[in-house]
Amino acid sequence: MTRARIAGVGAYVPPRVLTNAEVAARVDTTEEWIVQRTGIRERHIADETEATSDLAVAAARQALARAGLVPEDVELIVVGTSRGDMPFPSTANFVQHKLGARRAGAMDVFAACAGSVYSLSIGAQYIETGKYRTVLTIGAEIYSRLVDWNDRATCVLFGDGAAATVLRPATDGSGILDADLYSDGRHWEWLYVPGGGSKHPTSHETVDGRLHYLRMRGDEVFKAAVRMLAESSLAILEKNGYAPEQVDLFIPHQANVRIIEAVAKRLGVPMDRVVVDVDRYGNTASASVYLALEEAWSQGRVRPGDLVLLASFGGGFTWGAALVQWS
Ligand code: UT7
Repeated sequence: MTRARIAGVGAYVPPRVLTNAEVAARVDTTEEWIVQRTGIRERHIADETEATSDLAVAAARQALARAGLVPEDVELIVVGTSRGDMPFPSTANFVQHKLGARRAGAMDVFAACAGSVYSLSIGAQYIETGKYRTVLTIGAEIYSRLVDWNDRATCVLFGDGAAATVLRPATDGSGILDADLYSDGRHWEWLYVPGGGSKHPTSHETVDGRLHYLRMRGDEVFKAAVRMLAESSLAILEKNGYAPEQVDLFIPHQANVRIIEAVAKRLGVPMDRVVVDVDRYGNTASASVYLALEEAWSQGRVRPGDLVLLASFGGGFTWGAALVQWS
């Protein structure tokens, strides 16, 4: 079977940085509380001229350039997002048009914060079957327009950004070794946005009731995240005949440094092999694992032959893990 390899990575975060001090000036919180409970120090926030697809296109252009490819080479665009440009059509369509990827099919995948692993897995399938040779997978989010800036329990956590990978066929057996996707809809009420869909269509009442903002049971999400990230990571390693000690780099979803540390501990992967950037970007949902991968690659932390474990988790719940041998 032909494997898919990651031939290029790219990222874009809006230039505007929102510090904890600025957040503390808006809601009843403190810089100390945010750092101690989450590890987040600042996040990037899109300006009003930017839509999700703009962030995605900037990341995609960089990933394509690094892969030595042009938009016309792209055959499929998969965008993971939970806050696209519009409810209809897909954000991937805007990306396709703005990029000038004339040959590409385009689709969104809505798996909340697990959109990175989900889009990567979907993209890899098309390479593995031989259907396509160039697939763009992107995670792009503007959560600053999804959180309630009156709710201190959620608004401190998220940031905006996008990151992308270009998938191509591997020629040497390396690449994406495996990717597992999971879901469990029982606990949807622990992380959701009630308004704007068919169940609660937008009305004056839904707006007045603040139904268009994210709602979260942070304590429950925290426990579930640790368990599901650890379990899916251990399962994919075992299935592919690897032990946690063989992981060169672990790139988990960046939601809270305490979640990351707890998962690393359960896996037995030392923190110097774990990528952490939540301090500077907050939780960028679908973009988070891709953003951390791009940063690790830019810093020379990902080398050919390295075993890289990616794991993500989000509302729904949806979660998953991917195992990559870097080529
Ligand atoms: O991609 C997945 C998305 N979501 C997540 O990953 C979130 C997972 N959960 C978490 O990261 C943590 O649960 C939080 C950071 C959200 C909260 O941390 P915690 O240690 O679990 O705090 P808590 O929910 O147990 O709340 C402790 C206290 C509460 O006050 P009382 O009831 O003990 O008086 C909260 O009201 O902290 C209060 N609190 C805050 N205080 C200051 C909640 N948010 C804030 C805040 N500033 N921003």
